[in-house]
Amino acid sequence: MNKLKSYSLLIVISSSLFLFAACATSTPPAPVEATATPGAEAVIEDSTESTPVPIPEEPSPTPAPVDPTATSVPAEPTTPPDAEAEESGSDDTAEVVVTDEPIAVTPIEVTYFTPAQTEGPYYPVDKLADQDNDLTVLAGSPGSPAGQIIEFTGKVYDAAGMPIAGLTVEIWQTDNNGVYLHPNDPGTEQRDRNFQFYGESITTADGSYSFRTILPGHYEPRPRHIHVKVKQGDQELLTTQIYFDGDPSLAADGIFLDGGNENGHLVMTMEPGQDANGNPILVGQHDIILSANLSGS
Ligand SMILES: [Fe+2]
Repeated sequence: MNKLKSYSLLIVISSSLFLFAACATSTPPAPVEATATPGAEAVIEDSTESTPVPIPEEPSPTPAPVDPTATSVPAEPTTPPDAEAEESGSDDTAEVVVTDEPIAVTPIEVTYFTPAQTEGPYYPVDKLADQDNDLTVLAGSPGSPAGQIIEFTGKVYDAAGMPIAGLTVEIWQTDNNGVYLHPNDPGTEQRDRNFQFYGESITTADGSYSFRTILPGHYEPRPRHIHVKVKQGDQELLTTQIYFDGDPSLAADGIFLDGGNENGHLVMTMEPGQDANGNPILVGQHDIILSANLSGS
């Protein structure tokens, strides 16, 4: 019996050991480790990657000093800029003063006013579209007008002798054959289709105006002449005429002689010269002095 009990006990113990061993063996289910490994690796990789990257970048945030910089933003020359702006403002003011310097132009001594003359019957009623100060080139016209090309310039002064800018100087005249572009001129249909007949020049800062045109034709009984009108905006300041020195018809022209010796100021002397392209032309100079005081001087 004892042997039988001992044997049974041995069997029980052996079985227990076997079961224990079996359990111990099944415990290390590799599967778990395998699953864990992959997960761990992913985490590591991520953490590893994130670790290195973030670290360097954190220092970036370190550029939190940037914030301090931003802090300096307040100190930000925001105030200085304003000051600079004010300064620049004062500079602008200075520039305005500089711009005003031209106004400090020395006035001429006024010894006469340019005499007024009749407007005559041929002031243009239907002005051509081309109204610039070069009457020798008519927009849309193929050729050049017949006649002697002339160029003349001058300054417009007011009664105080100050040159006046921004005035409109108008001229109108006949073509080389003494024909006007006007319905009351019987020859107007035979006029030179390459001539502009009318032009305008706006006086510059120093009161200068200029024209390029032709020597007006002679028509009886008038001497050669160019009609002139000076305006400030729509206000007419002077209507007069320009004559040419040496014209024998001057001595018998009632309109010219009507003003007495003062009309000598309406005569322009032409001399041989060249235009901008070197072509030989006649050039003249003719100032106009208004009886109105426009400068307040
Ligand atoms: Fe005329």
